[in-house]
Amino acid sequence: MSLTINGTRRRISVDNRTSLLDLLREHLGLTGTKKGCDAGACGACTVLIDGARVNSCLTLAARLEGAKVTTIEGLAPGDNDPLHPLQQAFIDNDAFQCGYCTSGQIMSGLGCIQEGHTGSPDEIREWMSGNICRCGCYTKILDAVAQTARKH
Ligand code: FES
Ligand code: FES
Repeated sequence: MSLTINGTRRRISVDNRTSLLDLLREHLGLTGTKKGCDAGACGACTVLIDGARVNSCLTLAARLEGAKVTTIEGLAPGDNDPLHPLQQAFIDNDAFQCGYCTSGQIMSGLGCIQEGHTGSPDEIREWMSGNICRCGCYTKILDAVAQTARKH
């Protein structure tokens, strides 16, 4: 099959049971996307497929022929590229502790902003509710998403 990952067209061969998450982490070495629950409950594995947020642990890679996948590595791909504004906002707002949920939060936050679900703090909370943070950084994650949405 072939698909585009972070702007690069890839031809790959995968077992039809392989999840997109395992394809990214185990086959392509893109370990920025994290495995939390591996069952669709935590959001740590969030990536964008054709611009829409998905839990990559629940997505079969074999179904993605022709799709465009964006992972956290795709937001600032070059060593000298500036961080994406939402990545910078997470730093500016101290929106993480251990960081395990962070790439999923950022990819989900990006989707939330692109979808226009940032009209109020409550709306952001609702549309980010699939992303769990065990460290409890929710207030600052909300600030980072809201700050970036205002500049969008
Ligand atoms: Fe996919 Fe938790 S690892 S939702
Ligand atoms: Fe630790 Fe979110 S920063 S789980």
